[in-house]
Amino acid sequence: MSLTQTTYRNRSHYRYSRMQRALHWIMAVVIVLALAIGLYCAYLDHTPEREFLMTIHKSLGMTALALLVLRIPVRAYRGEPYWQKEQHRHVRIAARVGHGLLYALMLLMPVAGYITSGAEGRDIPWFGLFNWPNLMDHDRNFGRLVGTIHEYGAYLFFIVLGLHLAAVVWHRLVKKDETLSRMV
Ligand code: HEM
Ligand code: HEM
Repeated sequence: MSLTQTTYRNRSHYRYSRMQRALHWIMAVVIVLALAIGLYCAYLDHTPEREFLMTIHKSLGMTALALLVLRIPVRAYRGEPYWQKEQHRHVRIAARVGHGLLYALMLLMPVAGYITSGAEGRDIPWFGLFNWPNLMDHDRNFGRLVGTIHEYGAYLFFIVLGLHLAAVVWHRLVKKDETLSRMV
């Protein structure tokens, strides 16, 4: 085996798999857009513009949910890459808690959004191409309750994502370690 092949093979153990990296970056874009549009819509009156943006919001959210259904088994199967230089135990625990929360919120947010729209009898469209089936019974109060969970979940998502980005910047600029290159 040539040196290049050996190097490549070893390097691949220190990086998330191609599929994991693709899912991470596609979902990062989809989720940041869903968050931004959801937040913007919270300040709009019920205009046709809001109607249109909510269609995009719900479509992005349902896309994130569909991709998560693929991502969880891929993560369970591929696990995490090795570290070339081991991280301190506290850093590993913080990363595990942070990533666990991100996974939990990636599941909670679209499911809560789906239940809110479904229980209130509103459409759950996908980019104007089709509507997702509504499996919820009509129950406005329950819809409102889960809507509140969706709203507070969004604030928590902002905080945890802010910490995620701060951690990446810290690894890159302060510790100058391999963290970012594991995901690119
Ligand atoms: C510009 C934005 C982002 C950057 C630079 C970034 C960077 C990274 C990096 C470098 C890792 C690898 C950490 C490690 O080596 O253990 C990672 C993991 C992760 N990121 Fe991001 N990320 C971004 C946005 C997001 C967004 C929007 C989400 C959505 C919730 C997200 C969710 C995750 C999750 C769940 C992991 C753990 C992956 C796993 O172990 O399966 N990231 N991110
Ligand atoms: C990653 C997924 C999602 C994120 C990050 C997200 C985020 C947000 C945010 C930030 C808001 C504004 C805060 C508020 O007033 O509640 C919002 C509102 C809303 N979202 Fe989502 N959302 C997601 C998925 C979904 C999905 C899949 C649906 C429906 C199928 C949905 C339906 C709604 C509705 C109906 C509102 C307005 C609630 C109201 O009128 O009070 N969301 N979302």
